[in-house]
Amino acid sequence: MELTMRAVAFRRYGPADVLESLVLPRPSVRPDSILIRVAAAAVNPADWRLRDGQFRLAMRLRFPFIPGSDVAGIVESVGPAVSRFQPGDAVYAMIPTMMGGGYAEYVAVSEQYVALAPRHLSLGNTAGVPLAALTALQGLRDRARLQAGQQVLVYGASGGVGSFAVQIAKAMGASVTAATSSRNAVLVQNLGADTVIDYTQHSFSEAAQRFDLIFDAVNVLSFRHILPSLNPYGVFVTVNPFIEKLSPGWLASFRRGKRLRSVFVQPGGADLDCLSRWLDVDQIRPLIDQRYPLTDAAEAHRYSATGRVRGKLVLIVNKQLAEIVVAQSTLPIEETSVSL
Ligand SMILES: NC(=O)c1ccc[n+]([C@@H]2O[C@H](COP(=O)([O-])OP(=O)(O)OC[C@H]3O[C@@H](n4cnc5c(N)ncnc54)[C@H](OP(=O)(O)O)[C@@H]3O)[C@@H](O)[C@H]2O)c1
Repeated sequence: MELTMRAVAFRRYGPADVLESLVLPRPSVRPDSILIRVAAAAVNPADWRLRDGQFRLAMRLRFPFIPGSDVAGIVESVGPAVSRFQPGDAVYAMIPTMMGGGYAEYVAVSEQYVALAPRHLSLGNTAGVPLAALTALQGLRDRARLQAGQQVLVYGASGGVGSFAVQIAKAMGASVTAATSSRNAVLVQNLGADTVIDYTQHSFSEAAQRFDLIFDAVNVLSFRHILPSLNPYGVFVTVNPFIEKLSPGWLASFRRGKRLRSVFVQPGGADLDCLSRWLDVDQIRPLIDQRYPLTDAAEAHRYSATGRVRGKLVLIVNKQLAEIVVAQSTLPIEETSVSL
């Protein structure tokens, strides 16, 4: 008899109402994949953009499509080629957005995308980490090659990506200025920002300060406009994944070495391990705005689409599992020091 599960999915593109609670076949495990019993999943803007059909020309979805790139849960079973995980492990993962599958009781994920869950955090809160934190990490570390002591501006510091970018830049030893609206100023200060600018009142480009790195976490800034605010050899990193093509590297020589870089988040267990080292010691933490039961995913999508979310929205799939907190560090002792 085929095993089934509850999931929230859509069978056609459209507004949030096209999300339905369905009973669907439970995914089967491939040799290199892990079946996760999902405790919680996070909502990302890409989820409602996929549902709206904004990417329909670029990518073909198979309906019913279960959205959800971020999950935390417990390993139910593993394929024969899986070596690092076993049933019962508490884990978290970023699933490639196009594959989705997170808004469900079970999801099968390739081993390479999975990491052991960080300690001290409930699995419900852990689900708020992967995609947004990986975007911030890869933008700062890989695209901008951030160095300790540099001056960083995070624009849109209260969102999912921005709230992690502030904390990760601080964890990497930078001095951080955060641009946010006044209602989020205290919240962003509590994340560790050294200086806060209210973007609704002041343009950072009017200030005398120059930055080594400007991270646009909401895709609203233009490279041309921010150029005067960058130090020579400074980097502008944006979450617009395609814009870098418009400004190839060789053009930097005409702009005192100032470069434009895009970040396009890549899933990966090794980078999640890197985040876990900071999460384990409370150097970074997910900021959770709202939790919803899975069946209220449409309401979460509507809120996400307002562009006003502070941190992350989490869908609780299994209430009991979502409250589990991993007490012991699951990383080998020699790997627990916080470094890159
Ligand atoms: N390239 C990639 O791989 C990648 C990965 C992840 C996300 N993204 C994209 O990155 C963007 C942000 O994602 P997210 O998950 O962080 O979104 P989010 O959590 O929904 O962002 C909401 C936050 O954005 C702030 N905001 C909205 N308009 C703003 C503006 N004009 N100036 C400054 N801040 C503004 C809001 O703060 P206030 O209320 O204070 O304005 C709010 O806190 C989305 O477009 C997403 O699709 C790209």
